[in-house]
Amino acid sequence: MTRALETKGQGFPGGSGSKARCRAAARDASTDPAPCSSHEGRVGFLGSSARKAVLAAKFAVEGAFFLRRSEGGQWMYNKANILVTGGASFIGSHLAEALLKAGAKVTIVDDLSSGEIENIQPILGEIRFLRADLRDSRVAIDSCDGQDFVFHLANIHGGRGFIETHPGEIVQNLAIDGNVFRAAQLAGVKRVCFASSACAYPTTLQTADKSTLQRYLSEEMADPFREGCALADGEYGWAKLMGEMALGAYHKQFGLQGVSCRLFTVYGPRENETHAIIAFVAKALIRQDPFEIWGSGEQDRNFTYVSDIVEGLMLATEKISDCSPINIGTDEIVKIIDAAKTVCDIVGHRPSRFFCDASKPEGVHARAASTQLQEKRLGWRPRVAFREGIEKTIDWFSSSRDVAALRENFEQLLFERKASPGLVSSLVSS
Ligand SMILES: NC(=O)c1ccc[n+]([C@@H]2O[C@H](COP(=O)([O-])OP(=O)(O)OC[C@H]3O[C@@H](n4cnc5c(N)ncnc54)[C@H](O)[C@@H]3O)[C@@H](O)[C@H]2O)c1
Repeated sequence: MTRALETKGQGFPGGSGSKARCRAAARDASTDPAPCSSHEGRVGFLGSSARKAVLAAKFAVEGAFFLRRSEGGQWMYNKANILVTGGASFIGSHLAEALLKAGAKVTIVDDLSSGEIENIQPILGEIRFLRADLRDSRVAIDSCDGQDFVFHLANIHGGRGFIETHPGEIVQNLAIDGNVFRAAQLAGVKRVCFASSACAYPTTLQTADKSTLQRYLSEEMADPFREGCALADGEYGWAKLMGEMALGAYHKQFGLQGVSCRLFTVYGPRENETHAIIAFVAKALIRQDPFEIWGSGEQDRNFTYVSDIVEGLMLATEKISDCSPINIGTDEIVKIIDAAKTVCDIVGHRPSRFFCDASKPEGVHARAASTQLQEKRLGWRPRVAFREGIEKTIDWFSSSRDVAALRENFEQLLFERKASPGLVSSLVSS
Protein backbone atom coordinates (compact mmCIF):
# COMPACT_ATOMS: atom_id res chain seq x y z
CA MET A 1 0.00 0.00 0.00
CA THR A 2 1.32 3.41 -0.84
CA ARG A 3 1.62 6.08 1.77
CA ALA A 4 -1.66 7.82 1.28
CA LEU A 5 -3.89 9.54 3.76
CA GLU A 6 -7.20 7.78 3.45
CA THR A 7 -10.64 8.81 4.64
CA LYS A 8 -13.28 6.18 4.22
CA GLY A 9 -16.91 7.23 4.24
CA GLN A 10 -18.36 3.84 3.48
CA GLY A 11 -17.20 0.32 2.84
CA PHE A 12 -16.51 -0.59 -0.74
CA PRO A 13 -16.64 -4.05 -2.12
CA GLY A 14 -13.46 -5.07 -3.87
CA GLY A 15 -13.55 -6.14 -7.50
CA SER A 16 -15.24 -9.33 -8.59
CA GLY A 17 -13.26 -12.56 -8.35
CA SER A 18 -12.40 -12.63 -12.03
CA LYS A 19 -11.40 -9.02 -11.97
CA ALA A 20 -9.19 -9.49 -8.95
CA ARG A 21 -7.53 -12.44 -10.68
CA CYS A 22 -7.05 -10.35 -13.77
CA ARG A 23 -5.43 -7.59 -11.77
CA ALA A 24 -3.09 -9.95 -9.96
CA ALA A 25 -2.05 -11.56 -13.21
CA ALA A 26 -1.68 -8.20 -14.86
CA ARG A 27 0.71 -7.06 -12.18
CA ASP A 28 2.81 -10.16 -12.56
CA ALA A 29 2.95 -9.75 -16.29
CA SER A 30 3.47 -5.99 -16.03
CA THR A 31 2.83 -4.72 -19.55
CA ASP A 32 1.54 -7.96 -21.05
CA PRO A 33 -2.09 -7.34 -21.98
CA ALA A 34 -3.02 -11.02 -22.17
CA PRO A 35 -3.89 -11.48 -18.47
CA CYS A 36 -6.50 -8.73 -18.83
CA SER A 37 -8.28 -10.45 -21.65
CA SER A 38 -11.52 -10.51 -19.64
CA HIS A 39 -11.44 -6.75 -20.10
CA GLU A 40 -11.27 -7.32 -23.84
CA GLY A 41 -14.73 -8.86 -23.57
CA ARG A 42 -16.05 -5.45 -22.64
CA VAL A 43 -14.73 -3.77 -25.75
CA GLY A 44 -17.59 -2.25 -27.69
CA PHE A 45 -20.24 -2.92 -25.07
CA LEU A 46 -22.32 -0.12 -26.54
CA GLY A 47 -21.91 -1.58 -30.02
CA SER A 48 -24.40 -3.93 -31.69
CA SER A 49 -27.77 -4.58 -30.10
CA ALA A 50 -26.96 -8.30 -29.66
CA ARG A 51 -23.84 -7.38 -27.74
CA LYS A 52 -25.86 -4.89 -25.72
CA ALA A 53 -28.29 -7.62 -24.70
CA VAL A 54 -25.51 -10.00 -23.66
CA LEU A 55 -23.81 -7.32 -21.67
CA ALA A 56 -27.07 -6.14 -20.11
CA ALA A 57 -27.37 -9.60 -18.63
CA LYS A 58 -23.76 -9.46 -17.48
CA PHE A 59 -24.30 -6.10 -15.80
CA ALA A 60 -27.45 -7.39 -14.13
CA VAL A 61 -25.48 -10.29 -12.67
CA GLU A 62 -22.91 -7.82 -11.37
CA GLY A 63 -25.74 -5.97 -9.67
CA ALA A 64 -25.84 -2.85 -11.87
CA PHE A 65 -29.20 -1.30 -12.68
CA PHE A 66 -28.46 -1.43 -16.39
CA LEU A 67 -32.03 -0.90 -17.52
CA ARG A 68 -32.89 2.15 -15.42
CA ARG A 69 -31.74 4.67 -17.93
CA SER A 70 -31.89 8.37 -17.24
CA GLU A 71 -29.98 11.53 -18.19
CA GLY A 72 -26.20 11.75 -18.09
CA GLY A 73 -25.42 8.06 -18.35
CA GLN A 74 -26.75 7.45 -14.85
CA TRP A 75 -27.90 3.92 -15.73
CA MET A 76 -24.29 2.91 -16.25
CA TYR A 77 -22.91 4.43 -13.05
CA ASN A 78 -25.42 3.06 -10.56
CA LYS A 79 -23.60 0.77 -8.09
CA ALA A 80 -20.38 1.10 -10.09
CA ASN A 81 -17.01 1.69 -8.39
CA ILE A 82 -15.74 4.97 -9.78
CA LEU A 83 -12.43 6.72 -9.25
CA VAL A 84 -12.25 10.48 -9.74
CA THR A 85 -8.63 11.59 -9.84
CA GLY A 86 -8.31 15.23 -8.87
CA GLY A 87 -11.79 14.93 -7.38
CA ALA A 88 -11.24 17.70 -4.82
CA SER A 89 -10.93 20.20 -7.66
CA PHE A 90 -13.50 22.68 -8.89
CA ILE A 91 -14.82 20.40 -11.67
CA GLY A 92 -13.94 17.10 -9.94
CA SER A 93 -16.00 17.88 -6.84
CA HIS A 94 -19.11 18.65 -8.90
CA LEU A 95 -18.54 15.48 -10.90
CA ALA A 96 -18.16 13.39 -7.74
CA GLU A 97 -21.47 14.75 -6.45
CA ALA A 98 -23.23 13.92 -9.72
CA LEU A 99 -21.80 10.40 -9.74
CA LEU A 100 -22.97 9.87 -6.15
CA LYS A 101 -26.44 11.01 -7.17
CA ALA A 102 -26.31 8.45 -9.98
CA GLY A 103 -25.73 5.74 -7.37
CA ALA A 104 -21.96 5.27 -7.82
CA LYS A 105 -19.47 4.33 -5.11
CA VAL A 106 -16.96 7.10 -5.48
CA THR A 107 -13.28 7.17 -4.59
CA ILE A 108 -11.34 10.40 -4.90
CA VAL A 109 -7.57 10.58 -5.12
CA ASP A 110 -6.12 14.07 -4.86
CA ASP A 111 -2.95 15.55 -3.37
CA LEU A 112 -4.81 18.83 -2.63
CA SER A 113 -2.10 20.81 -4.42
CA SER A 114 -4.83 22.95 -6.01
CA GLY A 115 -7.94 21.06 -4.94
CA GLU A 116 -9.60 21.98 -1.65
CA ILE A 117 -10.95 19.70 1.04
CA GLU A 118 -13.80 22.23 1.45
CA ASN A 119 -14.97 21.35 -2.05
CA ILE A 120 -15.75 17.80 -0.98
CA GLN A 121 -16.69 18.49 2.64
CA PRO A 122 -20.41 17.90 2.00
CA ILE A 123 -19.77 14.43 0.54
CA LEU A 124 -16.78 13.28 2.63
CA GLY A 125 -19.00 10.88 4.58
CA GLU A 126 -20.17 9.18 1.39
CA ILE A 127 -16.90 8.70 -0.47
CA ARG A 128 -13.49 7.16 -0.02
CA PHE A 129 -10.84 9.88 -0.08
CA LEU A 130 -7.14 9.26 -0.65
CA ARG A 131 -4.78 12.16 -0.23
CA ALA A 132 -1.88 11.06 -2.41
CA ASP A 133 0.38 12.11 -5.26
CA LEU A 134 -0.27 10.49 -8.64
CA ARG A 135 3.26 11.25 -9.82
CA ASP A 136 3.99 8.10 -7.83
CA SER A 137 2.94 5.17 -10.03
CA ARG A 138 2.09 3.04 -6.96
CA VAL A 139 -0.56 5.57 -5.96
CA ALA A 140 -2.15 5.24 -9.39
CA ILE A 141 -2.09 1.44 -9.20
CA ASP A 142 -3.61 1.36 -5.71
CA SER A 143 -6.33 3.83 -6.55
CA CYS A 144 -7.41 2.15 -9.81
CA ASP A 145 -7.61 -1.22 -8.09
CA GLY A 146 -11.22 -2.51 -8.08
CA GLN A 147 -12.62 0.40 -10.09
CA ASP A 148 -15.13 0.08 -12.91
CA PHE A 149 -14.63 3.59 -14.28
CA VAL A 150 -11.90 6.19 -13.95
CA PHE A 151 -12.55 9.89 -14.50
CA HIS A 152 -9.06 11.32 -14.75
CA LEU A 153 -8.99 15.00 -13.83
CA ALA A 154 -5.85 15.25 -11.69
CA ASN A 155 -3.57 17.81 -13.25
CA ILE A 156 -1.02 20.43 -12.38
CA HIS A 157 -3.00 23.36 -13.66
CA GLY A 158 -4.08 26.91 -12.96
CA GLY A 159 -5.18 30.00 -14.84
CA ARG A 160 -3.17 31.61 -17.64
CA GLY A 161 -0.92 33.37 -15.09
CA PHE A 162 0.10 30.01 -13.59
CA ILE A 163 0.52 27.92 -16.71
CA GLU A 164 2.68 30.49 -18.46
CA THR A 165 5.05 30.84 -15.50
CA HIS A 166 5.36 27.20 -14.31
CA PRO A 167 6.30 25.12 -17.40
CA GLY A 168 8.52 22.71 -15.46
CA GLU A 169 5.65 21.81 -13.16
CA ILE A 170 3.13 21.58 -15.98
CA VAL A 171 5.14 18.93 -17.86
CA GLN A 172 4.88 16.66 -14.81
CA ASN A 173 1.34 16.06 -16.06
CA LEU A 174 2.89 13.70 -18.61
CA ALA A 175 3.90 11.44 -15.72
CA ILE A 176 0.53 11.70 -13.97
CA ASP A 177 -1.41 10.78 -17.13
CA GLY A 178 0.97 7.94 -17.98
CA ASN A 179 0.64 6.48 -14.47
CA VAL A 180 -3.16 6.67 -14.46
CA PHE A 181 -3.69 5.14 -17.90
CA ARG A 182 -1.30 2.28 -17.24
CA ALA A 183 -2.90 1.58 -13.86
CA ALA A 184 -6.39 1.66 -15.40
CA GLN A 185 -5.33 -0.83 -18.04
CA LEU A 186 -3.70 -3.15 -15.51
CA ALA A 187 -6.79 -2.97 -13.28
CA GLY A 188 -9.05 -3.86 -16.21
CA VAL A 189 -11.36 -0.86 -15.74
CA LYS A 190 -14.30 -0.65 -18.10
CA ARG A 191 -13.73 2.90 -19.25
CA VAL A 192 -11.47 5.91 -18.70
CA CYS A 193 -12.56 9.51 -19.15
CA PHE A 194 -9.65 11.90 -19.64
CA ALA A 195 -10.23 15.60 -18.93
CA SER A 196 -8.39 17.09 -21.88
CA SER A 197 -8.56 20.71 -22.92
CA ALA A 198 -9.19 23.11 -25.76
CA CYS A 199 -5.50 23.95 -25.27
CA ALA A 200 -4.74 20.78 -27.28
CA TYR A 201 -5.75 22.65 -30.47
CA PRO A 202 -3.06 24.26 -32.64
CA THR A 203 -2.56 27.89 -31.65
CA THR A 204 -2.17 28.77 -35.35
CA LEU A 205 -5.92 28.24 -35.76
CA GLN A 206 -6.66 30.72 -32.98
CA THR A 207 -4.77 33.87 -33.98
CA ALA A 208 -6.11 37.19 -35.26
CA ASP A 209 -4.85 36.26 -38.75
CA LYS A 210 -8.07 35.70 -40.71
CA SER A 211 -6.35 33.46 -43.26
CA THR A 212 -5.72 30.75 -40.65
CA LEU A 213 -8.31 31.52 -37.96
CA GLN A 214 -10.94 28.82 -37.35
CA ARG A 215 -14.00 30.32 -35.67
CA TYR A 216 -15.09 26.94 -34.32
CA LEU A 217 -12.55 24.24 -33.46
CA SER A 218 -13.60 20.77 -34.51
CA GLU A 219 -12.08 17.58 -33.19
CA GLU A 220 -10.02 16.51 -36.22
CA MET A 221 -8.10 19.82 -36.15
CA ALA A 222 -5.91 18.60 -33.25
CA ASP A 223 -4.23 15.31 -34.07
CA PRO A 224 -0.60 14.35 -33.36
CA PHE A 225 -0.62 12.04 -36.40
CA ARG A 226 -1.74 14.59 -39.00
CA GLU A 227 0.59 17.13 -40.50
CA GLY A 228 -0.22 20.68 -39.41
CA CYS A 229 -2.59 19.51 -36.66
CA ALA A 230 -0.22 19.51 -33.69
CA LEU A 231 0.93 22.86 -32.34
CA ALA A 232 -0.72 22.88 -28.95
CA ASP A 233 -1.01 25.83 -26.57
CA GLY A 234 2.20 25.74 -24.52
CA GLU A 235 3.40 22.95 -22.24
CA TYR A 236 -0.09 22.58 -20.75
CA GLY A 237 -1.72 22.06 -24.17
CA TRP A 238 1.05 19.73 -25.36
CA ALA A 239 0.73 17.58 -22.25
CA LYS A 240 -3.05 17.30 -22.85
CA LEU A 241 -2.49 16.36 -26.49
CA MET A 242 0.10 13.77 -25.46
CA GLY A 243 -2.31 12.49 -22.80
CA GLU A 244 -4.91 11.96 -25.51
CA MET A 245 -2.32 10.18 -27.64
CA ALA A 246 -1.29 7.95 -24.72
CA LEU A 247 -4.90 6.98 -23.98
CA GLY A 248 -5.38 6.21 -27.68
CA ALA A 249 -2.28 4.02 -27.65
CA TYR A 250 -3.66 1.95 -24.75
CA HIS A 251 -6.84 1.52 -26.79
CA LYS A 252 -4.95 0.47 -29.92
CA GLN A 253 -2.69 -2.08 -28.23
CA PHE A 254 -4.66 -3.27 -25.18
CA GLY A 255 -8.28 -2.46 -26.03
CA LEU A 256 -8.63 -0.04 -23.11
CA GLN A 257 -11.88 1.86 -23.58
CA GLY A 258 -12.28 5.55 -22.97
CA VAL A 259 -12.75 9.06 -24.24
CA SER A 260 -10.80 12.32 -24.19
CA CYS A 261 -13.07 15.25 -23.40
CA ARG A 262 -11.71 18.58 -24.58
CA LEU A 263 -13.14 21.03 -22.06
CA PHE A 264 -13.60 24.66 -23.11
CA THR A 265 -13.04 27.36 -20.45
CA VAL A 266 -15.14 26.16 -17.54
CA TYR A 267 -16.53 28.44 -14.82
CA GLY A 268 -18.88 28.22 -11.88
CA PRO A 269 -19.00 27.79 -8.09
CA ARG A 270 -15.75 26.55 -6.46
CA GLU A 271 -13.46 27.83 -9.20
CA ASN A 272 -10.69 30.05 -7.85
CA GLU A 273 -9.51 33.55 -8.66
CA THR A 274 -6.65 32.40 -10.89
CA HIS A 275 -9.20 31.89 -13.71
CA ALA A 276 -10.64 34.77 -15.74
CA ILE A 277 -14.32 34.70 -14.78
CA ILE A 278 -13.71 34.34 -11.05
CA ALA A 279 -11.01 37.01 -11.26
CA PHE A 280 -13.61 39.36 -12.82
CA VAL A 281 -16.13 38.54 -10.10
CA ALA A 282 -13.51 39.22 -7.45
CA LYS A 283 -12.45 42.49 -9.09
CA ALA A 284 -16.06 43.64 -9.33
CA LEU A 285 -16.70 42.80 -5.66
CA ILE A 286 -13.59 44.62 -4.46
CA ARG A 287 -14.73 47.54 -6.69
CA GLN A 288 -11.53 47.64 -8.72
CA ASP A 289 -11.30 50.93 -10.64
CA PRO A 290 -10.00 51.17 -13.31
CA PHE A 291 -11.14 47.60 -13.96
CA GLU A 292 -8.17 45.60 -15.25
CA ILE A 293 -8.43 43.06 -18.07
CA TRP A 294 -5.49 40.93 -19.15
CA GLY A 295 -4.51 41.34 -22.81
CA SER A 296 -6.47 43.28 -25.43
CA GLY A 297 -9.89 42.33 -24.10
CA GLU A 298 -10.79 41.42 -27.67
CA GLN A 299 -10.11 37.68 -27.10
CA ASP A 300 -13.12 35.44 -27.84
CA ARG A 301 -13.94 32.55 -25.53
CA ASN A 302 -16.84 30.21 -25.00
CA PHE A 303 -17.37 29.90 -21.29
CA THR A 304 -19.09 26.68 -20.25
CA TYR A 305 -20.90 26.36 -16.95
CA VAL A 306 -19.66 23.56 -14.71
CA SER A 307 -22.94 21.61 -14.53
CA ASP A 308 -22.89 21.33 -18.34
CA ILE A 309 -19.29 20.11 -18.22
CA VAL A 310 -20.20 17.41 -15.68
CA GLU A 311 -23.14 16.28 -17.79
CA GLY A 312 -20.93 16.20 -20.89
CA LEU A 313 -18.20 14.17 -19.16
CA MET A 314 -20.70 11.58 -17.94
CA LEU A 315 -22.49 11.30 -21.28
CA ALA A 316 -19.27 11.09 -23.29
CA THR A 317 -18.01 8.29 -21.06
CA GLU A 318 -21.27 6.45 -21.55
CA LYS A 319 -21.33 6.79 -25.32
CA ILE A 320 -17.72 6.82 -26.52
CA SER A 321 -15.35 3.93 -26.05
CA ASP A 322 -12.68 4.27 -28.74
CA CYS A 323 -10.60 6.84 -26.83
CA SER A 324 -11.26 9.48 -29.47
CA PRO A 325 -11.50 13.16 -28.50
CA ILE A 326 -14.71 15.15 -28.21
CA ASN A 327 -15.35 18.81 -27.44
CA ILE A 328 -17.37 19.58 -24.34
CA GLY A 329 -18.31 23.23 -24.56
CA THR A 330 -20.86 25.75 -25.76
CA ASP A 331 -20.86 27.57 -29.07
CA GLU A 332 -21.87 30.84 -27.37
CA ILE A 333 -18.95 33.15 -28.08
CA VAL A 334 -18.23 35.98 -25.63
CA LYS A 335 -15.44 38.57 -25.87
CA ILE A 336 -13.40 38.88 -22.72
CA ILE A 337 -14.27 42.57 -22.35
CA ASP A 338 -17.97 41.76 -22.67
CA ALA A 339 -17.61 39.02 -20.06
CA ALA A 340 -16.08 41.61 -17.69
CA LYS A 341 -18.88 44.10 -18.42
CA THR A 342 -21.56 41.44 -17.80
CA VAL A 343 -20.00 40.61 -14.44
CA CYS A 344 -19.78 44.29 -13.43
CA ASP A 345 -23.37 44.85 -14.54
CA ILE A 346 -24.70 41.97 -12.41
CA VAL A 347 -22.61 42.94 -9.38
CA GLY A 348 -23.63 46.60 -9.78
CA HIS A 349 -20.06 47.89 -10.10
CA ARG A 350 -19.57 50.87 -12.44
CA PRO A 351 -15.82 51.43 -12.94
CA SER A 352 -14.74 54.73 -14.48
CA ARG A 353 -12.99 52.72 -17.23
CA PHE A 354 -11.89 49.24 -18.33
CA PHE A 355 -8.10 49.05 -18.64
CA CYS A 356 -6.82 46.36 -21.05
CA ASP A 357 -3.24 45.54 -19.98
CA ALA A 358 -1.25 44.25 -22.95
CA SER A 359 1.72 43.40 -20.69
CA LYS A 360 -0.29 40.58 -19.04
CA PRO A 361 -0.78 37.11 -20.59
CA GLU A 362 -3.61 37.16 -23.13
CA GLY A 363 -3.83 33.58 -24.31
CA VAL A 364 -4.99 32.85 -27.85
CA HIS A 365 -6.99 35.45 -29.77
CA ALA A 366 -10.10 33.34 -30.39
CA ARG A 367 -11.27 29.98 -29.09
CA ALA A 368 -14.67 28.34 -29.41
CA ALA A 369 -15.88 24.78 -29.69
CA SER A 370 -17.56 23.27 -32.68
CA THR A 371 -20.52 21.50 -31.11
CA GLN A 372 -21.36 19.36 -34.14
CA LEU A 373 -19.75 16.15 -32.94
CA GLN A 374 -21.06 16.45 -29.39
CA GLU A 375 -24.58 16.92 -30.81
CA LYS A 376 -24.14 13.96 -33.16
CA ARG A 377 -22.44 11.47 -30.81
CA LEU A 378 -23.95 12.51 -27.50
CA GLY A 379 -27.27 13.94 -28.72
CA TRP A 380 -26.62 16.76 -26.31
CA ARG A 381 -25.67 20.41 -25.98
CA PRO A 382 -24.87 22.60 -22.97
CA ARG A 383 -27.91 24.23 -21.41
CA VAL A 384 -26.76 27.11 -19.22
CA ALA A 385 -26.57 30.49 -20.98
CA PHE A 386 -23.64 32.75 -20.07
CA ARG A 387 -25.57 35.38 -18.13
CA GLU A 388 -27.46 32.75 -16.13
CA GLY A 389 -24.23 30.94 -15.24
CA ILE A 390 -22.56 34.18 -14.21
CA GLU A 391 -25.45 35.05 -11.89
CA LYS A 392 -25.16 31.68 -10.16
CA THR A 393 -21.39 32.05 -9.88
CA ILE A 394 -21.63 35.52 -8.35
CA ASP A 395 -24.21 34.29 -5.81
CA TRP A 396 -21.83 31.54 -4.74
CA PHE A 397 -18.74 33.73 -4.67
CA SER A 398 -20.24 36.55 -2.64
CA SER A 399 -21.52 34.12 -0.01
CA SER A 400 -18.25 32.18 0.33
CA ARG A 401 -15.39 34.66 0.06
CA ASP A 402 -14.07 37.22 2.49
CA VAL A 403 -13.94 40.36 0.37
CA ALA A 404 -11.66 42.30 2.76
CA ALA A 405 -9.01 39.54 2.69
CA LEU A 406 -9.38 39.28 -1.07
CA ARG A 407 -8.55 42.96 -1.48
CA GLU A 408 -5.23 42.50 0.35
CA ASN A 409 -4.03 39.39 -1.53
CA PHE A 410 -5.50 39.94 -4.94
CA GLU A 411 -2.51 40.59 -7.23
CA GLN A 412 -0.52 37.63 -5.92
CA LEU A 413 -3.52 35.32 -6.30
CA LEU A 414 -3.68 35.74 -10.05
CA PHE A 415 -0.43 33.82 -10.50
CA GLU A 416 -1.18 31.04 -7.98
CA ARG A 417 -2.96 27.72 -8.32
CA LYS A 418 -5.41 28.08 -5.45
CA ALA A 419 -7.04 30.65 -3.20
CA SER A 420 -5.23 31.54 0.05
CA PRO A 421 -6.91 29.83 3.01
CA GLY A 422 -7.84 33.14 4.65
CA LEU A 423 -10.06 34.07 1.77
CA VAL A 424 -12.61 31.36 2.27
CA SER A 425 -15.10 32.77 4.74
CA SER A 426 -17.34 29.73 5.03
CA LEU A 427 -17.63 26.19 3.76
CA VAL A 428 -17.98 26.35 0.03
CA SER A 429 -21.19 24.95 -1.30
CA SER A 430 -23.36 25.55 -4.32
N1 LIG B 1 -11.11 24.76 -15.48
C1 LIG B 1 -11.05 24.75 -16.80
O1 LIG B 1 -11.45 25.73 -17.46
C2 LIG B 1 -10.52 23.56 -17.54
C3 LIG B 1 -10.47 23.60 -18.94
C4 LIG B 1 -9.97 22.50 -19.62
C5 LIG B 1 -9.55 21.37 -18.92
N2 LIG B 1 -9.61 21.37 -17.56
C6 LIG B 1 -9.14 20.17 -16.86
O2 LIG B 1 -10.11 19.73 -15.92
C7 LIG B 1 -9.46 19.14 -14.81
C8 LIG B 1 -9.98 19.77 -13.52
O3 LIG B 1 -9.66 21.14 -13.55
P1 LIG B 1 -10.16 22.21 -12.48
O4 LIG B 1 -10.20 23.52 -13.19
O5 LIG B 1 -11.38 21.73 -11.82
O6 LIG B 1 -9.10 22.31 -11.32
P2 LIG B 1 -7.58 21.86 -11.20
O7 LIG B 1 -6.92 21.90 -12.49
O8 LIG B 1 -6.95 22.63 -10.14
O9 LIG B 1 -7.77 20.35 -10.75
C9 LIG B 1 -6.72 19.46 -10.73
C10 LIG B 1 -6.84 18.60 -9.47
O10 LIG B 1 -5.78 17.65 -9.51
C11 LIG B 1 -5.16 17.62 -8.23
N3 LIG B 1 -3.76 17.23 -8.46
C12 LIG B 1 -2.79 17.95 -9.05
N4 LIG B 1 -1.64 17.25 -9.06
C13 LIG B 1 -1.90 16.07 -8.47
C14 LIG B 1 -1.10 14.93 -8.17
N5 LIG B 1 0.20 14.89 -8.49
N6 LIG B 1 -1.67 13.88 -7.55
C15 LIG B 1 -2.99 13.91 -7.20
N7 LIG B 1 -3.79 14.96 -7.46
C16 LIG B 1 -3.25 16.03 -8.09
C17 LIG B 1 -5.30 19.02 -7.69
O11 LIG B 1 -5.16 19.10 -6.28
C18 LIG B 1 -6.71 19.38 -8.18
O12 LIG B 1 -7.69 18.96 -7.26
C19 LIG B 1 -7.96 19.30 -15.02
O13 LIG B 1 -7.45 18.13 -15.61
C20 LIG B 1 -7.88 20.44 -16.02
O14 LIG B 1 -6.72 20.38 -16.80
C21 LIG B 1 -10.09 22.43 -16.85
